[in-house]
Amino acid sequence: MEKLEQYKKELAGKNAEETLAWSLRKFGAERVILASSFSAEDQVLTDMLCKSSHSARIFTLDTGRLFQETYDVMQRSMDKYQIRYETCVPDSGEVATLVSAEGPNAMYASRKKRERCCEIRKIRPLKKILATADAWICGLRRDQGLTRKETEVIEWDAAHGIYKISPLFDWSEDDVWQYIRRHDVPYNALYDRGFRSIGCAPCTRATAPDQDIRAGRWWWEDPEHKECGLHRHTAIPGKG
Ligand code: ADX
Ligand code: SF4
Repeated sequence: MEKLEQYKKELAGKNAEETLAWSLRKFGAERVILASSFSAEDQVLTDMLCKSSHSARIFTLDTGRLFQETYDVMQRSMDKYQIRYETCVPDSGEVATLVSAEGPNAMYASRKKRERCCEIRKIRPLKKILATADAWICGLRRDQGLTRKETEVIEWDAAHGIYKISPLFDWSEDDVWQYIRRHDVPYNALYDRGFRSIGCAPCTRATAPDQDIRAGRWWWEDPEHKECGLHRHTAIPGKG
């Protein structure tokens, strides 16, 4: 707790680039890792990170159910920034058992089944990769909805026992797109087709401009439960 408070003080007033630089200095490039789903936010962070360090680590959870457009932006980013992503895939045996028992589209049948799919395809691989770091960096922003409005620049992620850093916590959607345009950052083509938050293909659809930014994610579930578990347990202060 004490350490967390100290880190918050050190980060107060720092912009996103400075927060990234602080993270690399504080934890060392080997022990801090950026989580990328190739969202507009993650692409901003990737651009900033690649411009400031050649040894920064970036991982992606390849659930096996991503859009082709997401793989396209991954490829374009690898080519542009000359980077390799630490690609985390689910256990093939677990996926085979799940799909054999429940079918490929069981996520629509109940929240329990949807959470089971997320558990196998995202949460377990996430746990494994985060065990190799002392802090992870994400593209969370406060105005991404109900479940994100308390996001802090740094939090203790009790579920994984490491720090979680959100350099864009106070950015608006407009700030993100201004950066992308100004720096010619590669982005997912689905954004040009009405998507505003992009995850797995079966669980993401386009949204109308007046809808909540994450309305197209797990759209058949209610807004309080629009988290897959990647970010559900954070914001619980616990250590220092
Ligand atoms: S989710 O929990 O609903 O899927 P969202 O898509 O809003 O999260 O992304 C929030 C942040 O979580 C991203 O900016 C990124 O840091 C991380 N994240 C989400 N999905 C992935 C993924 N597939 N691989 C790596 N990081 C991810
Ligand atoms: Fe499965 Fe959908 Fe969760 Fe992706 S978002 S892991 S497809 S339930």
